Amino acid sequence: MTTPLDENAGWFARAQAVIPGGVNSPVRAFGSVGGTPYFVARAEGPHVWDTAGRRYVDLVQSYGAILLGHANPTVIDAVLTAAADGTSYGAPTTREVELAEAIVARVPSVEMVRLVSSGTEATMTAIRLARGFTGRDRIVKFAGCYHGHSDGLLVAGGSGVATLGLPGSAGVTANQVADTVVAPYNQVPTLDDQTACVIVEPVAANMGLVPPAPGFLEGLRAECDRVGALLVFDEVITGFRLGLDGAQGRYGVTPDLTCFGKVIGAGLPIGAFGGRRDIMTCLAPLGPVYQAGTLSGNPLATAAGLAAFGLLTDATYDALAGRVARFAAALEAALRGAGLPAHVPVVGTLCGLFLGDELPTDYESAKRTDEALYARLFHALLDRGVAIAPGAYEVLFAGTTHTDDVLDRIVDVAADAAASL
Ligand SMILES: Cc1ncc(COP(=O)(O)O)c(C=O)c1O
Repeated sequence: MTTPLDENAGWFARAQAVIPGGVNSPVRAFGSVGGTPYFVARAEGPHVWDTAGRRYVDLVQSYGAILLGHANPTVIDAVLTAAADGTSYGAPTTREVELAEAIVARVPSVEMVRLVSSGTEATMTAIRLARGFTGRDRIVKFAGCYHGHSDGLLVAGGSGVATLGLPGSAGVTANQVADTVVAPYNQVPTLDDQTACVIVEPVAANMGLVPPAPGFLEGLRAECDRVGALLVFDEVITGFRLGLDGAQGRYGVTPDLTCFGKVIGAGLPIGAFGGRRDIMTCLAPLGPVYQAGTLSGNPLATAAGLAAFGLLTDATYDALAGRVARFAAALEAALRGAGLPAHVPVVGTLCGLFLGDELPTDYESAKRTDEALYARLFHALLDRGVAIAPGAYEVLFAGTTHTDDVLDRIVDVAADAAASL
């Protein structure tokens, strides 16, 4: 494993002295793949450059926040223009209204939306709102789905059998997750009238890429309706990445609430949650469910999001999905050709990478992916100038600047990297 041990190593040493693990989000520390993280100096389109001047074709793309390529000129112009007028006011702005209108116009289930500063805030508050609206405590989540790091959602999947949650992190008390039930993905749980909501990634993208089985999302909708629980789609990854109306448009299932993040800020810190008007009006200042944020609706983030929306059309997604489908097939063939047990599943513009004998359908099967082999492939790719996520449970994020040429180059590199293993 020969991650460049130059400027990057120097920065990592400095970072570790003052930042726990040297990083501000754990996966960045390369813990599960080993080696020294590259520190990004700049990025443009499909590429990032590290502090040693090495260029990588980037399939991380800020874990899906970047869809239009790094440093998209329209987005950058919008941010620079906005910044010149000030960076935060603590008062409403016109761009907040326009961004909310843009989301409402594109996602039919969203009648009202509130802007926050991260995906974690969006899911955390959607849960509070579901509880406040229904007057019920219990929530159901699925093993292998990630909904940010708020206490009540940070619950390990356990054995994959539906079970009362156990804390997935030190510092989360048993009480904080006592009302969180964890169920296996792709199986519709039987709910009761204690359930406030079911929260789900409609396409699971945090255990690798696991599509919903036929009938799963429809089954969740029906079961929620049967007991009067709310259905919350966490579209922090899928929202405006699979298409303008996200996974809910793709699968034709209407949630009560939807959480967004990532693409709606084009790389600036933002999140949002929205849904039915009668539910959303329970939020303060109209209703009793409290939520607030000093930086919510931030002028730079809303400028970036609006600029991105101005560039995203159905045609954008169709074209990208076509390229990703071709890329995924070629990548799978290249890796298998070198003897690796690779699966590259695709859902629209998203694709995943599993190294194992089976194509996973839930967290239990996803965990059978060969993490050690992934780590070796990761470094073989990085050594050859291709950056995938430093963790076997992430997905591959291509964007509009990943042209066929760029993707073909990744396939060639992958064939060589796999052969070297
Ligand atoms: C599906 C999903 N929900 C929520 C989150 C949390 O978002 P953030 O990291 O912006 O807090 C993530 C982050 O990756 C995510 O993938």
